Amino acid sequence: MQKLGTVTLETKRLILRRFTPDDAEDMYQNWASDPEVTRFLTWPCHSSPEASRAILVEWAAQYADGGVFQWAIVPKVSPQVIGSIAAVKLDEEICSAEIGYCLGKAYWGQGLMPEALTAVMRFLFFDVGMNRIAACHDVNNPKSGRVMEKAGMKYEGTLRQAGRNNQGICDLVVRAALRSEWTIPE
Ligand SMILES: CC(C)(COP(=O)(O)OP(=O)(O)OC[C@H]1O[C@@H](n2cnc3c(N)ncnc32)[C@H](O)[C@@H]1OP(=O)(O)O)[C@@H](O)C(=O)NCCC(=O)NCCS
Repeated sequence: MQKLGTVTLETKRLILRRFTPDDAEDMYQNWASDPEVTRFLTWPCHSSPEASRAILVEWAAQYADGGVFQWAIVPKVSPQVIGSIAAVKLDEEICSAEIGYCLGKAYWGQGLMPEALTAVMRFLFFDVGMNRIAACHDVNNPKSGRVMEKAGMKYEGTLRQAGRNNQGICDLVVRAALRSEWTIPE
C-alpha cells in the first residue's frame, strides 16, 4: 500500500480535494446541519458553523499522514463544498478500506456520489494499491446501497444489529469490490 494521502482527484463534474477550515460555512449550510442528511450517520448535526470549523481544523491537521483519505466534494460549476467522501477505516494488513460519504440534500439524485465513489475507488485500487474496498449502510437507507451498486460494489451480506447510527441500533448491509474483479463503471 502506498500512503499517497488525500491528493486532488477530478471527475467529469467534480473536484475532490482536501478540506480546509474555511470550508466550515459550506459544510454547515450544505449538509452538517441537516437532520435528513445525518439521519443514517453516526454523528449528530452540527449546532453551528463554529462546530464545523472545529472538526475541519482537526481534519486539516491529519492530512500530513499519508494514510488519511478525506475529500471535500466540489462541483466544477460552483466553488462551494457540497459533501464529503472518506476512507473511514483502513486495514493495512489486508490492504482494505471502508468508505463513508454524505452529500447536501440539494444535490441528491444527480449521480454525483457514484461519480465521486468511482474516482475514489480507482485511486485507492490502482494508485494506493488497495485490494478490497467496502462500504456499509443501514438496511433502511437503500439509496446509499444504490450508490455502492452503481460504483460496482457487490452485495456481501447483512449483519444483524451490527451498527448504530442516529436511528439507533441497525442491521448493516455490506457491499464491496475487489481489485481483481472491479471494472470502472461507465
Ligand atoms: C446516499 C447519497 C450519498 C446518495 O447520493 P446521490 O448523489 O444522490 O446518489 P444518486 O443520485 O446515485 O441516487 C442514489 C439513490 O438515491 C435516491 N434518490 C435520488 N434522488 C433523491 C432525492 N432527491 N431524495 C431522496 N432520494 C433520492 C434514489 O433511490 C437513487 O437511486 P436510483 O438512481 O436507482 O433512483 C445521499 O442521498 C446522501 O448523502 N444521503 C445522506 C447521507 C448518507 O446516507 N450517507 C451514506 C451513509 S451509509
